[in-house]
Amino acid sequence: MCGIIGIISSKEVSSRIVNSLKKLEYRGYDSAGIATLVEGNINEVKCEGRVDALEKDISKFNLKGDIGIGHVRWATHGKPSKINAHPHSSEQVSVVHNGIIENSTILKKLLEKKGYVFKSQTDTEVIAHLVTDYLKKNSLKDTIIKVLKKLHGSFALGIIFKDKNDLMIGARRGSPLAVGYGPNENYLGSDSYALKSMTNKISYLDDGEFCIIKRDQIEFFQSNGIKVNKKVMNLSKEELNYDKGDYKYFMEKEIDEQPSTIKDCINEYVDKYNNQINIYNFPWNISSLKAIVLIGCGTAYHSCLVAKYWLEQNTNLDVSIDIASEFRYRKVRFKKDSLYVFVSQSGETADTYAALELCKKNKMKTCAVVNVVESSIARDADLVLPIYCGQEIGVASTKAFLGQMLVLYMLSLKISYDQKEITKKTYHSKIKNLLLLSNSAKKTLKLDHKLLKIGKVFAQAKGCMFLGRGYSFPIALEGALKLKELAYVHAEGYPAGEMKHGPLALIEEGMPVVVIAPRDEHYLKTMSNMQEVIARGAKVLLITNKNKDEIISENIWEQIEVDKLNDELIPFLTTIPLQKLAFYSALEKGYDIDKPRNLAKSVTVE
Ligand code: AGP
Ligand code: GLU
Repeated sequence: MCGIIGIISSKEVSSRIVNSLKKLEYRGYDSAGIATLVEGNINEVKCEGRVDALEKDISKFNLKGDIGIGHVRWATHGKPSKINAHPHSSEQVSVVHNGIIENSTILKKLLEKKGYVFKSQTDTEVIAHLVTDYLKKNSLKDTIIKVLKKLHGSFALGIIFKDKNDLMIGARRGSPLAVGYGPNENYLGSDSYALKSMTNKISYLDDGEFCIIKRDQIEFFQSNGIKVNKKVMNLSKEELNYDKGDYKYFMEKEIDEQPSTIKDCINEYVDKYNNQINIYNFPWNISSLKAIVLIGCGTAYHSCLVAKYWLEQNTNLDVSIDIASEFRYRKVRFKKDSLYVFVSQSGETADTYAALELCKKNKMKTCAVVNVVESSIARDADLVLPIYCGQEIGVASTKAFLGQMLVLYMLSLKISYDQKEITKKTYHSKIKNLLLLSNSAKKTLKLDHKLLKIGKVFAQAKGCMFLGRGYSFPIALEGALKLKELAYVHAEGYPAGEMKHGPLALIEEGMPVVVIAPRDEHYLKTMSNMQEVIARGAKVLLITNKNKDEIISENIWEQIEVDKLNDELIPFLTTIPLQKLAFYSALEKGYDIDKPRNLAKSVTVE
């Protein structure tokens, strides 16, 4: 979601800013813009839509300048349009902003009374005028300290000044921001991917900090102006890989990569020689843990929901799960013997990060299950468990979901064994089963052709339902989320047993319903629920697993069978057809599969 780039150099910057904005495109955005300083004037080029269009406009204007800021916007205040695109400039300054200024309406009124005229509907524009106003009576540093104090909400900021050709400002509260060090030039970026093409030496701003970036020096300050020293980190050379190979869509590629990402992740954690799960550096005594709290948003939250079943089944911990945006504002009673686990692909999700910070403030034990190990959540948690699934570029999370579930499953087995809740024999047999997963995932992917046809029906549906019990209930939620976000079809995930308490009223002739019913302890119950919807006219797609001796029912519209593995592992397999179903439904409708409307890969606002 939304991205910032800034460069201060002695060479021209606009083409490099555009290149870096391209690296931020994966986050999801709706408009883009750039401002550079040329002979004491701030020149802006902005456009609605893609960075490619911005690039064309820039070449028309022949935008010069050796200091500049660029932005890809994901609108929060004011519709996506050229005028609302960032940067926002006053007579004196130009600002790019990620996040939300919650008191912008009040600040705007005060500034309008002073005669400032607003051009856009954004919350961001107040920052440009506020800085201009404070600069009249304050030094640059005092201006920044005072302005940041006035702003409520979250932000990452990049600011350049009309009469200062030797510096730019970066500031951070809530939203991530990094600086990069180059040869006689320095950079500002909302994530390391934006900076990697220019440098591998970066520092992250901590929450509340700001910095003054010059060509040959970067100074960091706390919000009160006290100077701080920063560690310089060396980034891996690995850049975002935009190569789709033989695929047309990243999502399709990422779904198909799952057998190998499962294998890679297992290889990182399973010692096959000794048949055990290694989680190195586990900083606490497992037997002293009494409870575990799993927190995430969206798909990551669904992985927590699946893990609740595993943890309750295998360990003696009290298990709770929470949606980060709810957790962070509830009156939570923190307990010392609890472990708080934060699950996030990007490691930058604002709500999940805030929930982590809240736990840290209360001195709790924290663990991050992330894909991006350089992310804010990974940097701040006590223990990091990477999911090792490689870059995920499609906005809809697929292989990261499997990776999150996998790490949480292995964590549950490790805790369970260390707590002596399962015998060595059971532990070893569960690990052996785990080693079969990648191959079964590969076989599940082959069920593709059927889903192409089924997707055409779901694409045309007014609405549909996804039902499951036990481990299959969170998978139903995830299946419904995938269909919503990709095919824009209204979809509800429900515990199958809950249907009769209300949602059954929605079932009508021809409504597609996905029933996820592997042959586990819930199978017969779910079959009865399935009959209830069939009786009311639903068109059922049953996702189950193979069983040689039983014919299920004649009234099922379509059936997909995944391998029969240990019941605990079935959620990994039943997820895959649902990912494909959403993919083919969106394909049928000709939608932008990798960048669904209104959504962003990295949700850095509340
Ligand atoms: C998944 O398909 C969604 N795009 C979304 O729900 C996502 O999982 C959520 O925003 C959390 O992101 P994170 O894993 O990067 O924290
Ligand atoms: N709130 C600002 C806007 O709507 C910034 C959005 C963003 O983070 O891109 O313009």
